[in-house]
Amino acid sequence: MDSIIVRGNGPLNGQIAIAGAKNACLALMPATLLSEEPLTLTNAPRLSDIKTMTELLSSLGAEVSSLQDGKVQAMSSHNLDNHVADYDIVRKMRASNLVLGPMLARLGHAVVSLPGGCAIGARPMDLHIHGLEALGAEIELKDGYLHAKAPRGLKGAEITLGFASVGATENILMAATLAKGTTIINNAAREPEIVDLAKCLSAMGAQIEGAGSERIEVQGVDRLHGATHPVVTDRIELGTYMLAPAICGGEVECLGGRIELVGAFCEKLDEAGISVEETDKGLKVARRNGRVKAVDVVTEPFPGFPTDLQAQMMALMCTAEGTSVLEERIFENRFMHAPELTRMGANIEVHGGTATVHGVERLKGAPVMATDLRASVSLILAAMAAEGETIVNRVYHLDRGYERVEEKLGNLGAHIERVKGG
Ligand code: EPU
Repeated sequence: MDSIIVRGNGPLNGQIAIAGAKNACLALMPATLLSEEPLTLTNAPRLSDIKTMTELLSSLGAEVSSLQDGKVQAMSSHNLDNHVADYDIVRKMRASNLVLGPMLARLGHAVVSLPGGCAIGARPMDLHIHGLEALGAEIELKDGYLHAKAPRGLKGAEITLGFASVGATENILMAATLAKGTTIINNAAREPEIVDLAKCLSAMGAQIEGAGSERIEVQGVDRLHGATHPVVTDRIELGTYMLAPAICGGEVECLGGRIELVGAFCEKLDEAGISVEETDKGLKVARRNGRVKAVDVVTEPFPGFPTDLQAQMMALMCTAEGTSVLEERIFENRFMHAPELTRMGANIEVHGGTATVHGVERLKGAPVMATDLRASVSLILAAMAAEGETIVNRVYHLDRGYERVEEKLGNLGAHIERVKGG
């Protein structure tokens, strides 16, 4: 298994290109299952999760071609000959469950493995299931698999989500595009990835209003056609790299970044003493004079502070002046980076969903273990500002969500290298 070695260094300077969003792409790719005609995604990120989704769609009979070094995904679901999403693929990546809604809508039946728990929490699928049942699906759990069918086709309904789940909103939205009549999703997730999915589905001929608000209305159509769609910028990769100059000093321009993707995060950076300036190419980030100030953070669904940036923000807070309280409200077990940061000299207490970080002057390099995707990158951020050398082990998590991280940070002047494992 590969590891990444980071040697702490001074200020980082330069430009960094932000890729298309992993979490948008993972919802957009299953949308191909809704139509017989080709769907092409441009600005796709080059990540192992995208390869896993390719493997899953191919197993269902879709044709997926990765073009232009992976930046373009050309898909066709003309001939779907399997309706079973196998456990071996689904367990690798939870977003595999996003094939359920589209397969059900297009084929009238689908069998999808329940993903099981993961490092950051239990992550059940009850909201997906209730939503699809409201559209007329019959869903049964057998042998760890969800067996879903819609013998009389799907029919529009009014659905109110108990929580604004991103995945449930995506699954229901995709299914509703081909359901008969009108579907209303109340308390829908408002993340930019939902807006991007709705844009793509609309380009395929779906009739959708209100994506990005709490109420999405879909008028079902008989069929969807082909389309080409550019994947929205990855706001989490953006936020992660915005933290590089915040932690190490210097000035970095994140190309393709936009404030509206990271509004709540930018407010916290401002409070901490980091300046963010909009340029015609993206966002320019620099640390204002002196040490970063401690700020408190509560994670919330969009437009609140994203849970996917909590670990990275904690890395910044480790060397801030004062005490910061980070409250995780989306996932029940998303502080696994805290003990690893503690190995580097951070002073962190975790009680339930709250982490209290007492800032220290400097972290020290140490061997650490990546536990999940965002935890891995938080360790790299912390290591760049630490004294000495840090070895981050188990970096396969990182490759799920960050393309060529060592090259991108290396271009800014970071001392970072990958060591190939056996
Ligand atoms: N939840 C339920 N029941 C459901 C669905 C969700 O209780 O049926 C709970 C979850 O257990 C969790 C909360 O609701 O506690 C939020 O889950 P949500 O469904 O919104 O998340 P998701 O769709 O599973 C996506 C991203 C995550 C990101 C979350 C929250 C993708 C592929 N994944 O997950 O991304 O953290 O939304 O914004 O879009 C990551 O990229 O590192 C990552 C984990």
